[in-house]
Amino acid sequence: MKFSIKSDQLDKQRSDVLVMGVYDSLKLCYDKLSLSASTISHIASILKHGDMSGKAGSSLILYNVPGIKIPKILLIGLGKEKELDGKKYRAAVRAMIHELKRMDVKTITSLLQTASIKEADIAWNIEHFISEVMDASYEFAELKTVNRKTKKTFDIFLIVDKKSQKIAEAASKKAFALAKGIELTKTLGNLPPNICTPTYLGKKAQEIGKEHGMKIEVLDQKQIEKLKMGSFLGVAKGSRQPPKFIVLQHSKGKKTQKPIILVGKGITFDAGGISIKPAGDMDEMKYDMCGAASVLGTFKTIGLLNLSVNVIGIIPTCENLPDGLALKPGDILTSMSGQTIEVLNTDAEGRLILCDALTYAERFNPDVVIDIATLTGACVIALGHHASGLYSNDDRLAKDLESAGQISMDRAWRMPLWEDYQSQLDSNFADMANIGGRAGGSITAACFLSRFAKKYKWAHLDIAGTAWKSGKAKGATGRPVGLLTQYILSKMN
Ligand code: BES
Ligand code: MN
Ligand code: ZN
Repeated sequence: MKFSIKSDQLDKQRSDVLVMGVYDSLKLCYDKLSLSASTISHIASILKHGDMSGKAGSSLILYNVPGIKIPKILLIGLGKEKELDGKKYRAAVRAMIHELKRMDVKTITSLLQTASIKEADIAWNIEHFISEVMDASYEFAELKTVNRKTKKTFDIFLIVDKKSQKIAEAASKKAFALAKGIELTKTLGNLPPNICTPTYLGKKAQEIGKEHGMKIEVLDQKQIEKLKMGSFLGVAKGSRQPPKFIVLQHSKGKKTQKPIILVGKGITFDAGGISIKPAGDMDEMKYDMCGAASVLGTFKTIGLLNLSVNVIGIIPTCENLPDGLALKPGDILTSMSGQTIEVLNTDAEGRLILCDALTYAERFNPDVVIDIATLTGACVIALGHHASGLYSNDDRLAKDLESAGQISMDRAWRMPLWEDYQSQLDSNFADMANIGGRAGGSITAACFLSRFAKKYKWAHLDIAGTAWKSGKAKGATGRPVGLLTQYILSKMN
C-alpha cells in the first residue's frame, strides 16, 4: 500500500477510481473540494433512481461521469450525517477496501476522509483512514503453500484542501509508521510457537535496533541468574528453549529527560506448566507473548518516526511448559526484589516473569513504567474483547492512558487497585502467593504486580481480551500499539 496526500485539483487528477462518501440523505461528501457542477449533478441524478441508499454498508459504482478524468466512481454509504462517529467511519473505510478488492483498479483517489466526524479533524480522519486500510489488508499467509491469494496493493491519493496539506502529510506519516508497528506486532503474535521462541524475539529486537539506531541487549540464562531473577527463572525452568531478557533503548530525547519504560510479557507458549491447561483452544496460548510483541511494534513505530524521546523496552521471555524440572505448585521462589512467592498455580506465570522485570526497571530512574500483558482470563470475563484492563498507582498516568486509548480507538478501562484486594494474596509460607482466588482474578493479578512497582509511577494493561481474535477471524489485533504510540506522542507536546 502507498498513500500520498494531494492538494485539491480534482479536475486534473488521474487514477483508476474515485471514492466518495454518501450520507443517507443522499448528500455527497466532498467538503470544500472543487468537484465540478456537472459531476455533482450527474451523480445526484443517478442517486435519484434509488439503487443506493447511502446507508452504512451500501455502495455503488458509476462509470464515465462527466467533469472528471477518473473513469470510475465508487460511492460508499456513510449513514446519517449527524451520527457519523469514528467507528462508523472506519467501517466505511473497510467497506471501501472490500469493494476495491473486487474491482479492476490499482490507483485510487479518495474523498472519503473529508467526512465530518464528531470531535475529529482532518489529521484524525487521515490517520484512521490509513490505519483501517492497513488493518483490513493485513494477512498472515507466509506459511501457506496452497490456496494463497495474491495480495492486492493500491496506490491511494488522499485529497485535501490546500491549507490542510502539511497537517495531512504529518498525519499520513504517523499513521503509516504506526501501521508498520502494528503489522509487526500482529505477525509476531500470529507466528507459531515453534518459530516465535524467546531466541527469535531477541533476534527481532536486534533487527529493530540495527534499523533505527537503538541500543539492544539480549541477556541469556547466565546473565539472568547473575541478576538473581529467581521468579522469572522459576517459570523458565520447565522449558528446553533458553529464556531471554531483552532490553531496548531508544534514547533520542534530552539527556535530562527520564525514560518512559514499556515492559511486555513474552511467554511464547503458555501450556500452564504443571497446573496444565485444558487442551481446547490451547493453541491460542502462542499469543501469550503479545505484550512483548506490542513493545517491539511500538519500538518499530517510534524508530520509523525517529521521535525525540527516551523510551526503554523490557521483555522477559520464556515458555511455560510441564516438565520433570518444571516449577511445582507449592514451590517458593525468591524474586529479584528479595520478596518470596509461594507458587500455588504454575499457570499464573505472567506475573512471575513480570515482577522481576519491574524490579529491573528501577535502575533506569523512569518517568513512568507501563507493563503490557495477556495476564488473566478473568480480565476477558470482566471487560470482554473491547477494552484492555487498565490499572495504575498514579491518577495522572491513568488519565493520560485513557485519553490516548480514546484518540487511537484502542481503548482501556480503569479497574480498581484497592488495598482491600491485597489480602487475597496472603500465603502461610512466603511473603505472598501467586494467585488470589477466582474472585476479582484480574484485580489480584494487578495487586501482585503493584508490590514490585512501588518505587515509580506505574500502570498495567491487561490485554488478554484485546490482543487477538478467536474463531474464524483468528489473528492478532496489534493492540495496544495504537494506545502506546499515542501516549508517547502526547508526552512530547
Ligand atoms: N496467559 C494466561 C491468561 C489468559 C488466559 C489470557 C486465557 C487469555 C486467555 C495466564 O498466564 C493464565 O494462565 N492466567 C490464569 C491465572 C489463574 C491461574 C490465576 C487464568 O487467567 O486462568
Ligand atoms: Mn498461564
Ligand atoms: Zn500466560
